[in-house]
Amino acid sequence: MDGSTDAASRHASEGAPRHVAVIMDGNGRWAEARGLPRAEGHRRGLEALRRTIAAADAAGIRFFTVYSFSSENWRRPTGEVSALLSLLRRFVRADTAEMHANNVRIRYIGSRDGLDHDIKALLAESEALTARNTGLTLVVAFNYGSRDEILRAAKSLVADAAAGRLAPEAVDEALFASRLDAGDVPDPDLVIRTSGEMRLSNFLLWQAAYSEFVFTPVWWPDFDGRHLEEALDEYRRRDRRFGGLSASGGRS
Ligand code: IPE
Ligand code: IPE
Ligand code: MG
Repeated sequence: MDGSTDAASRHASEGAPRHVAVIMDGNGRWAEARGLPRAEGHRRGLEALRRTIAAADAAGIRFFTVYSFSSENWRRPTGEVSALLSLLRRFVRADTAEMHANNVRIRYIGSRDGLDHDIKALLAESEALTARNTGLTLVVAFNYGSRDEILRAAKSLVADAAAGRLAPEAVDEALFASRLDAGDVPDPDLVIRTSGEMRLSNFLLWQAAYSEFVFTPVWWPDFDGRHLEEALDEYRRRDRRFGGLSASGGRS
């Protein structure tokens, strides 16, 4: 995980997308199909996340974004919401040190407003600890909704304009994008959604304007490095045109 350029990692990263984002879906159905509580599906989903981060790093991916909890997931029963919050706490507490040792930089996107103080502190600590790491950047979308993120970016621009710090004509795509939660992270090249659902569910609406999409029927707790490789193979077969003509838009 140290970004070394030995032959194996050079080979692994050939044609790899720079930024992969994953909508980790299907934990509940995985559990229900086995007669288990939904929380058990989420617990197994955390294990899938751990192995997929390692696989993404080994594949030469530089930015890996995961959708862990949406701004709409608060609509679920309180017990399920608590289970998900506990898992987030567990992940941040138990995994940050190892990721730091592996040179992973951790970021969080989503609104921090209204989150419990202990969660806010955990997120800030793990970001600060890993801020100077130069390996894989892991972006965890937590309490994340893309419309909320876009609105917050718009409000920050409007506030600057109203205060006379910003001329409206100066607002362009680059400035707008820089006000998003991880404004310095490049757009995702590939978005993967598990569990067979084919929608974005309020994920990266601005950033995914030209992303490639891979939908897999696999439930997230079953996802592993092989499934990631399949998605990367599918990505390599795609022809990204960005509105131009074939082969005019190179893969980054
Ligand atoms: C994804 O699994 C995890 C979260 C949305 C937090 P789900 O809990 O949505 O699982 P399904 O879609 O009900 O199977
Ligand atoms: C999207 O999944 C959010 C996460 C994976 C964290 P959902 O399961 O909440 O999405 P919908 O409700 O099926 O669209
Ligand atoms: Mg779901």
